[in-house]
This record gives sequence, structure tokens and C-alpha cells, in this order.
Amino acid sequence: MNSTMRVLVIGSGGREHALCWKIAQSPLVDKIFCAPGNGGIAQVAECLDIKADDVAGLLDFAKREKIDLTVVGPEAALSLGIVDEFSKYKLRIFGPSKAAALLEASKVFSKKLMAKYNIPTASFKVFDNPGEAKEYIKNIGAPCVVKADGLAAGKGVVVAKTIDEAEKAVSLMMEDKVFKDAGSKIIIEECLEGEEASILVITDSRDVAVLASAQDHKRIFDNDAGPNTGGMGVYSPASIVTPGLLNDVLDKIIYPAIRGLHKEGIDYRGVLYAGVMITKSGPKALEFNVRFGDPETQAILPRLKSDLVEVMLAVSEGKLVKVKNLDWDNRACVCVVLASKGYPGDYEKDKEIYGLDEAVQIKDIAVFHAGTKLRKINDIGQKAELEYLTSAGRVLGVVGLGDTIKDAIDNVYQAVEKISFEGMHYRRDIGKRALIAARRGL
Ligand code: AMP
Ligand code: GLY
Repeated sequence: MNSTMRVLVIGSGGREHALCWKIAQSPLVDKIFCAPGNGGIAQVAECLDIKADDVAGLLDFAKREKIDLTVVGPEAALSLGIVDEFSKYKLRIFGPSKAAALLEASKVFSKKLMAKYNIPTASFKVFDNPGEAKEYIKNIGAPCVVKADGLAAGKGVVVAKTIDEAEKAVSLMMEDKVFKDAGSKIIIEECLEGEEASILVITDSRDVAVLASAQDHKRIFDNDAGPNTGGMGVYSPASIVTPGLLNDVLDKIIYPAIRGLHKEGIDYRGVLYAGVMITKSGPKALEFNVRFGDPETQAILPRLKSDLVEVMLAVSEGKLVKVKNLDWDNRACVCVVLASKGYPGDYEKDKEIYGLDEAVQIKDIAVFHAGTKLRKINDIGQKAELEYLTSAGRVLGVVGLGDTIKDAIDNVYQAVEKISFEGMHYRRDIGKRALIAARRGL
């Protein structure tokens, strides 16, 4: 294939900006569309007024515009079966089928698969009755973890420190139905202790290309305080993921999941993301996601030297074996998320963002937009000037590379200093754990 490919990326966050940015570097690609995209993505792709879960609208567009490759960012369209729909029309699309996407869309399905194929994970029990669930909680005691079965926009997991907290979570999910049908079944599981890491691979079901490891920072405040968020920052590689540990995760978690699915009649194609807890007795799977992580992708892709489009095409042809040994930049990469005031609760919007141009002038810095929109500020002259406004809870992912984790941290925070908007909040300790480990010579 020559450089004539038309690529459609689905989604509107920092992950999708990083994907569009990386895809734009491929010599195979001529034009990128993003549905719906955001203000920053508009720098590299033509943004479309089609929602990320509007499967019919996306299919229509891909047919009409003869899209050569569609890349799905968020899980919603995958669990609605967008890959199956596109495949009916022989449209090439990167992501797992509806059946495979159940790995993320149903935690019950995922945990049962783990149990069946001996994948180490927290011990668990499934409930469809709140009374029985509460009874069980009384028996096992706290801490324990309560999880809604279905998709709940990242909010369906409660790590309960007390029996009361766990029972309240059961009531919210099963009686008040805050996640609608997603909470009609729940899981109660053992609370694991350890450090978390994200291991992502790309697979065509036969072969696996391992992506660089990453560690997300899920809590809103420094030192992992405050409520959970979609992710406030990430660094790659994750220092805790030594080569030995990575092999362990692959052998005990990733490969058995792909083989297990195959035995169940499901060929997994796309990104498989394992959230793992590194416990004293080894790595255990917390969850599987069926897509690129966000913000992980923002710190992983700047380190990837290989052509991502070539890899995705190989997956769609079942020929990943040809390109599975990916080429990586050895430097460290740190991503700091800049969020709106109030996030992860109700947050402010429409605040003007300053300093973006200055930030990106710094060497080895990229700024991925997670929630921005463009506004024309002067339509009178020949050329309208544009300004960026905040439009979501997570606004920007500032990404910096450095020879060491310390250099990457210094670089990224230097860029963060240049950027401002009213109410801007960010964590000042992204990568700190890796820094401490590096100082200890780990
Ligand atoms: P999940 O969506 O299953 O990854 O859960 C979201 C977050 O909840 C994880 O990243 C962990 O921080 C936490 N979590 C989930 N399951 C457990 C568990 N069994 N023990 C301790 N923490 C957990
Ligand atoms: N970083 C967490 C996620 O993508 O689900």
C-alpha cells in the first residue's frame, strides 16, 4: 500500500489525539478523520460531527468516504459491535469483535474466563440479589471490592474499607440502579494489595506485540489521595515492570486470556490491556480492557518508533508475526493531565487556555488535547484567529520525553508551567514512584 490511506479514528480524548498524532507520522497515510475529535485533534485530523458510539453513522461515513482503516478508541462502540458491522462490509477496522469486547463490557464474563483458564486474580463471587450480596459481605468482612458487571464509565468499582461502605455500594448498584442494567449483576471480590501497572499488547489472536509498560495515577490528588479519576498522569516504562515480571504477566495473564478466548470460539484482534496488581505473591489481573488505555497511550506512543499503522494492518490480515517486534525509544516518557476545577465531580468549562504554543516549543514535548474546543476570536479580517477553550474534566495531557525518568519529569513540568487556564488542577508527583525506585537503583 502506498501513501494514500484514509484513516478514521473514533473518539475525542487525549488517547485519540495521541493516536491521530502517531498515525499522521505513518508514510502509508494520506488523510485522517476523527469522530468526533476535539480542538487539538483538529490540528492533525478532520473532525466529524458523528458521535463515538453512533455505529450506523460511522459505518455510513466509512462506506461513503472509502475509509481504508478505522481505529476505535473508546470501548462503547466496540461493545456495540462496530467491528462486526464494519466487517460485514469488508471495511478494515482495528479492534475486537462484540463477543471479544465482553472482556471489558462484562466483568462477570471476564472473571469467569480468568477462573476457567487459571489466570491469577482476586477471589470473587457473582451476585444478582442484593440481600445475598450483603450477607456475603458480612461473612468475608472488609476491606473488599464491589464491582458492577457492566460498563459504568469507569465508576463501577468501589474499594470498600468498611462493611458499611461495601453494603452501600451494593444498594447503589442493585437497588438504586445508578448504573442501570450494568449493576443488575455485581461481583464482590478480595481486596488486593500492591502496586498497579498497565500491560498492553496488540494481538491478532495468534501473535502478540508487547507495548511498553506504563503506570497510571488514578487519584485526583498527590500521593494518591482523593477520589478516583479517569487517570491524572502516567509514565512509561513502569519501573516496577522488570523484564522478569513482564514475562510473568504475559505467561500467566495475557497469553492464557487470548488462548482461553480462542478455545471459547472468540479470536481476539486489537489491543488487549491488562490492569494488574503486583502483589507479594506475583502479578494478579484486576481487569481487562479491550482498547488502548487513556492516559497510558499518551505516554506509550511517543516512545514507539515502529509504524503503528503497519502493525494495525498486519493485525487485520492475521499477519502480526511479520511486525510483532516493535522498535522502542529507550527514553522515559511522562504525561501530566491538566484538569478542570471540580473534576472528577461537576467541573467548569469554557475557560480560555493560555501558553500552548510556548509549551510545545520545548524540545521533546507534545501536548495532547483531551477536552478542548476551538473558538474563532476575530472573524473580521482575512484570517480568523483561533483560541482553545476547555470543554471537559480532563483538558490536556502534557507529555515529555527524557533520557532518564528524572529528565522526563523535569521536562514535562517545565512545559506544564507554561500552560494555564482558570481553575487548572494537576498532580505534581507524576512519576515520583519511578524516581524513588531509580534512586534506590532498582
Ligand atoms: P478495575 O476497573 O477493575 O480495574 O478497577 C478500577 C480500580 O479499582 C483499579 O485500578 C484498582 O485501583 C481498584 N481495584 C479493582 N479491583 C481491585 C481489587 N481486587 N483489589 C484492590 N483494588 C482493586
Ligand atoms: N487508564 C485507565 C483506562 O484507560 O481504563
